[in-house]
Amino acid sequence: MSDPHSPIWAVVPAAGSGTRLPSAYPKQYLQLGDSCILQRAIDALLAVEAVQGVVVVLSARDSLWHKLPASTNSKVTTAVGGATRAESVTAGLETVCSLAQDESTMVLVHDAARALTASSDIRRLIERVMLSPEQGGLLATRVQDTLKRAVKSINQAGSSANTIAATVSRDDLWHAQTPQMFRASRLLATLKENQQLVASGEITDEACAMEKAGYSPALVEALAPNFKITHGRDLDMALALVTLLEKDQRE
Ligand code: C5P
Repeated sequence: MSDPHSPIWAVVPAAGSGTRLPSAYPKQYLQLGDSCILQRAIDALLAVEAVQGVVVVLSARDSLWHKLPASTNSKVTTAVGGATRAESVTAGLETVCSLAQDESTMVLVHDAARALTASSDIRRLIERVMLSPEQGGLLATRVQDTLKRAVKSINQAGSSANTIAATVSRDDLWHAQTPQMFRASRLLATLKENQQLVASGEITDEACAMEKAGYSPALVEALAPNFKITHGRDLDMALALVTLLEKDQRE
């Protein structure tokens, strides 16, 4: 049933150290054009009129947050994260549930490391999820390339190499992204109930936890680039796109 009146909050886990991207700062603070990665992720959420508040989850050792314009925005609050992304998301959800104080509150969990997410995609996600809010949903992209399952074998030089064991059908396969949108209290309870599966790595995102609990989250195709900045090459690509966008806006 449609439920257009639920408050909508966002949780941005930003307590990671980004070890796969060599830099003096955690990756969420790297500059991309006019602002840093984390500020961009928050701005995309704040530009969506329906979003009432954003909880940014920071490392207990964070020393850079206070330099961001978002740190003085009245819609933005912080929470202290944990050792894993799941722990940080849980801390953010607890803050949302105590601030929003409304059982019907919906939450968008959005990685700080997705600096390019378009507000128009977030609006489309909200519109779709609010048609069946109990099930929730997420931004995602269809798998485009042919998929191969690899097997390790020893090549003639005696070293281990990947070779193809099988071609896997890509029909109906999608890449899960964020934001992922669910009822905040339901998601928090589900993550807590499945703590062991989260710790063992069997549950890697919010949607997976909700699937285990029997829900069928909606896949909403992201139309704008929405990749996560993990490696140096992702940062280079994001910078190229942002430079183009900012040049277009100035002209
Ligand atoms: O490391 P990865 O890119 O998978 O992290 C995804 C998101 O989770 C990032 O925004 C990162 O800051 C966040 N994270 C967190 N707490 C951790 C680990 C990661 O908030 N302990």
